[in-house]
Amino acid sequence: MLPPLDDVDRIMEVMQSAFPPEYGEAWNRRQVSDALLLAGTHHELIASDGSDRPEAGKDTAGFYLSRGLFDEEELLLFAIAPAHRRKGLGHILLKRFIESARQRNKKRLFLEMRRNNPAGVLYAAHGFQPIGIRPRYYRALNGDRIDAITQELVIE
Ligand SMILES: CC(C)(COP(=O)(O)OP(=O)(O)OC[C@H]1O[C@@H](n2cnc3c(N)ncnc32)[C@H](O)[C@@H]1OP(=O)(O)O)[C@@H](O)C(=O)NCCC(=O)NCCS
Repeated sequence: MLPPLDDVDRIMEVMQSAFPPEYGEAWNRRQVSDALLLAGTHHELIASDGSDRPEAGKDTAGFYLSRGLFDEEELLLFAIAPAHRRKGLGHILLKRFIESARQRNKKRLFLEMRRNNPAGVLYAAHGFQPIGIRPRYYRALNGDRIDAITQELVIE
């Protein structure tokens, strides 16, 4: 099945503003549309009013993209556009991700983040715990190396 084209557009709209360019973390359009074709890939959008289906005329404020295998799922991308931050949308979207994974019978959720990413506070608030470090895993465009922190949430 082909990925919904308007969802790729909406994801790319957020992607272009949400990820700090110095870390080179944003995916390109091809990577996103290819990922959406793979079995086990899951994504959701959030509109600026917190609803889950941005309609025409409403901003897409954020999205996540995850991939599951058996009873595990990895959160690969999670972003709220800068114009919509600090209004609680990150909390709403992360809650939806965890709930959706629970309904799909996932037992362990994983993600990886740059050390000191403020997103860590958000993940901790929803029960994610650091379980490992990949030293110097990310390379910033200026050559700096930054640790990756692997986080896990075990769903009861
Ligand atoms: C992380 C991100 C998704 C948060 O989205 P958001 O809509 O602003 O999140 P919320 O408003 O729900 O805030 C959630 C909590 O996260 C923490 N937080 C979010 N941004 C923060 C910042 N810049 N500095 C400090 N704490 C921050 C706060 O504890 C906040 O709660 P509070 O506002 O009640 O204090 C957003 O900043 C983002 O897209 N960042 C760039 C992409 C990214 O790094 N994604 C994560 C990859 S692992």
